[in-house]
Amino acid sequence: MSDGFSLSDALPTSNNPSAPPPQGWPSWGNQPPAPGGFPGYPGPPGTYPTPPQGPHPRGPGPHPGGPGPHPGGPGPYPGAPGAFPGGPAGPGPYPAPGQPFSAPGFGPPQGGPAPMKVPFELPLQAGLVPRLLITITGTINPNPNRFSVDFKRGNDIAFHFNPRFKEEKREVIVCNSMFRNTWGKEERTAPRFPFEAGKPFKLQVLCEADHFKVAVNDAHLLQYNFREKKLNEVTKLCIAGDITLTSVMPTMI
Ligand code: GAL
Repeated sequence: MSDGFSLSDALPTSNNPSAPPPQGWPSWGNQPPAPGGFPGYPGPPGTYPTPPQGPHPRGPGPHPGGPGPHPGGPGPYPGAPGAFPGGPAGPGPYPAPGQPFSAPGFGPPQGGPAPMKVPFELPLQAGLVPRLLITITGTINPNPNRFSVDFKRGNDIAFHFNPRFKEEKREVIVCNSMFRNTWGKEERTAPRFPFEAGKPFKLQVLCEADHFKVAVNDAHLLQYNFREKKLNEVTKLCIAGDITLTSVMPTMI
């Protein structure tokens, strides 16, 4: 099983446990990352911007399409000249260093504690790509039943991550995919259940070359092999269920 390793093992610079975490990568399972996000690093040239440093973005609107406040970016997303050393200048689909994520229709990226609307939908403009990291923060509602994080290709669900708090009175994490309205075989191999009613959480999903890795509160939880291969067509992230959302942030690491 590959669940036994630290997520940071996935990156070539992480072999030395005393070394600092790789660029843009949370210190997955070791020390918590710096508050407020991840250090900004250059991503692969010409692809996606890199992790923001600012506070978590917040306040999405349910209908992407309206103008959002993008302090650094001319395009729909705050990519920016200077975001890609060696790469083309111009807007990119994911945030530039130092820029909080703010999709079209999102509310102010900083400010008070107003929660984001759930169910929540985030367009992933360029689809999934290896090393795209989605960081979701929020709080589990009191007396929760379930929540889910779905990466969707049209109506299909490439990856359904579904913590259930009371399935036959126990807690379980169910992972699955849905093609043509039919669920596949469930994977229920998570070694623990890291969510608790009323408690805040940080959930991270990292897209790798052929699987997703999931970490909760900086500790690796599970991985899920791709069943859907058309990554670039997985262009929607949907979050639903018994949580309050604080931020959802795609970054390249
Ligand atoms: C079903 C449930 C779906 C989804 C699926 C995953 O029973 O209704 O929402 O969680 O399991 O296999």
